[in-house]
Amino acid sequence: MKTKTGERGASILGLGRALPERVLTNRELETMVDTSDEWIKTRTGISERRIADEHMATSDLCEEAALQALQRAGVPGESVEMIIVATVTPDMVFPSTACLLQDRLGAEGAAAFDLQVGCTGFIYALAVADKFVRSGAYENILVIAGDLLSRITDWEDRSTCVLFGDAAGAALVGPTSEAGILGSYLGTDAKGAHHLKMPAGGSLHPACTETVEQRMHYLRMNGREVFKFAVTAMGDSASEAVRRAGLTFDDIDCYIPHQANIRIIDASAKRLGIPRDRVYINIDRYGNTSGATVPVAMAEAWEEGVIGPGDNVLAVTFGAGLSWAAAVIHLTEELKNR
Ligand code: UT7
Repeated sequence: MKTKTGERGASILGLGRALPERVLTNRELETMVDTSDEWIKTRTGISERRIADEHMATSDLCEEAALQALQRAGVPGESVEMIIVATVTPDMVFPSTACLLQDRLGAEGAAAFDLQVGCTGFIYALAVADKFVRSGAYENILVIAGDLLSRITDWEDRSTCVLFGDAAGAALVGPTSEAGILGSYLGTDAKGAHHLKMPAGGSLHPACTETVEQRMHYLRMNGREVFKFAVTAMGDSASEAVRRAGLTFDDIDCYIPHQANIRIIDASAKRLGIPRDRVYINIDRYGNTSGATVPVAMAEAWEEGVIGPGDNVLAVTFGAGLSWAAAVIHLTEELKNR
């Protein structure tokens, strides 16, 4: 398919999301660590989050989200030519979670790989898929972001355990009659790499008794430093993505920020001059679900009729790296109405 300018367009054909049933409330967290519902709500905006049961793996949630995106797009699994999974909690180090899904989705022969950039992963993967589709190399690419952060959360550390939840979101990217991913901007400032990490389990500190005893297999974060980075990175990356799209903020119908902290969301919207009624927020119900925040919010916004064909969505994220990623996504007529 060619756009009016003669180029091949690429955009989202279907969206899906998967959330575990088990709800973990702030009140329950009060019984686990020295915290309060009031502190969590006012400092983060989170009321509850979802936690996967012990038999579940990241691939299970990713599969559910992917199947929903495919079904909504009306595209069968065997037509998928590439699967990219953005995750920092893969089922195992290798093979990739994308490979495990390739078989389950019936996407015979599809290229499949994981992409590891933490909370920015979905937009990184979307940008990769956009290039492959627009170049004509591939037709249907499944972009999935899924994490079970509960598996790497230190449930004795009140500064992190109140923030995160489990989820997966998926988008099927394919050729469209109009340009879809109008502009994106990806970047990293590795000087802040040590502020957000899981120290052990890789080649530097392979698992051993000592790494377990020192709780090095859990996520560690300097929240204040990440917060400072986030406010600047979200504003700067959103502005650059909108500029690259050739639009202004008045052209943005819906702002979907990374759902990490309501104060960061509000500060970035204020800085960008986007009114609250154009900001999609679900952090109160799911907490920070890593790379899944944006696709889960997009799928939900589409289900609620908040976004649909013709809309320009601005998605902006930040995370481990420290990294940032922003994209302006034009939803074309190929994304079916609900
Ligand atoms: O996807 C990217 C991942 N990361 C993020 O997005 C995190 C970005 N950072 C944040 O969202 C915020 O920095 C936090 C929510 C993590 C923390 O909020 P803050 O306003 O920056 O709090 P703080 O770290 O400055 O701590 C303030 C106080 C401290 O007590 P003192 O030293 O003032 O006595 C903490 O010990 O709050 C205390 N505190 C808590 N109190 C009750 C920290 N965690 C808790 C808690 N309950 N869960």
